[in-house]
Amino acid sequence: MFEHVEAYPGDPILTLNEAFGQDPRPEKINLSIGIYFDDAGQLPVMRAVREAEAQIAPTLGARPYLPMEGLAPYRQAVQALLWGAGHEAVTSGRIATIQTIGGSGGLKVGSDFLKRYFPQSEVWVSDPTWDNHRAMFEGAGLKVHTYPYYDPLAGGLRFEEMLATFKGLPERSIVLLHACCHNPTGVDLSAAQWNALIPVIQSRRLIPYLDIAYQGFGDGLEQDAHALRTLTDAGISFFCANSFSKSFSLYGERVGGLSVVCPDAAQAARVLGQLKATIRKNYSSPPTYGARVVAQVLQSPELRVLWAGELDTMRQRIRLMRQRLADGLGQALPGHDVSRFVNQRGMFSYTGLSESQVDTLRHSHAVYLVRSGRMCVAGLNAGNVDKVTQSLAAVIRDAT
Ligand code: LMR
Repeated sequence: MFEHVEAYPGDPILTLNEAFGQDPRPEKINLSIGIYFDDAGQLPVMRAVREAEAQIAPTLGARPYLPMEGLAPYRQAVQALLWGAGHEAVTSGRIATIQTIGGSGGLKVGSDFLKRYFPQSEVWVSDPTWDNHRAMFEGAGLKVHTYPYYDPLAGGLRFEEMLATFKGLPERSIVLLHACCHNPTGVDLSAAQWNALIPVIQSRRLIPYLDIAYQGFGDGLEQDAHALRTLTDAGISFFCANSFSKSFSLYGERVGGLSVVCPDAAQAARVLGQLKATIRKNYSSPPTYGARVVAQVLQSPELRVLWAGELDTMRQRIRLMRQRLADGLGQALPGHDVSRFVNQRGMFSYTGLSESQVDTLRHSHAVYLVRSGRMCVAGLNAGNVDKVTQSLAAVIRDAT
């Protein structure tokens, strides 16, 4: 009966992470999947999360279904975090926000909605982008193209080419944009570049689809929301999928959201209704626990301060590791440009290593990177950064 079912070649990130788990070498180092590990190499349980769990434990009790759109206090908290509670778009009710199963769930529900209401639209994603973006949009039946983004030689942005591509897109094209901490390159648009992009988005009547999975890991919670607030202030309607996997270290709870910024509250109400219908057709309604925890943290002034402080510490530790890596590589490889490691933002660095160099790192040094050359710098710590530096230097030296 299943003879025609072909073998799954695996996922470039999740399957690699499984392979890492099975690698028997005790010295192995995981810099593949986008997970933040602390300086002891452990997956942290944040204090704010522990305290929120203790506070809600006595009230959990019976567990009815959540509404299709999710937990109301959680949805409010998402809007307040992304836009600020007093933002005009929030207070006027023109943002439709749903709770989703991780940021991926948000991307999927939004893609299904777009396929239904904008069936002629096609999607443009950055070259490169998160490996799963293309699969998600294609899974919803949308055609996916790329726009120029990363400059591998300079380790920066091909902004002029990106802008020129946007200027030539058909009206109502969907453009996937990373709000901050671009995955996989760590290269973001500056505020001035966002400002230059906005008139093009408006004149071409494009549909921006923002993905914000790393708020707080770039320059700070407020700074990392700059892009989506600027688009909103410019009167642009757009989609925004967000995730709390990394910022709350709650990967397995799958806590995410989808917000659609609309021109007015009446349209937002209709969009929300159809998002509910989309959820019902996919998985009926989201789970309770993770949303309760996140809402508890974000709505308690004390826990919110505690959480934001913990997130600051995580961001600063990543910065420190970037610096140590760059300094060490600079010493090991005189003349080699290592500035990209400190200039890139968020959890990832695009090392520029080839697939075969990544394979050598894995097989000869037990250091795991994604085969695109993406390194999760949030997996570095005081105990492994020197070994990673030496391994990288050896692989780069061998190739030159
Ligand atoms: C990553 O990019 O490594 C993370 O977002 C995990 C994932 O689902 O791919």
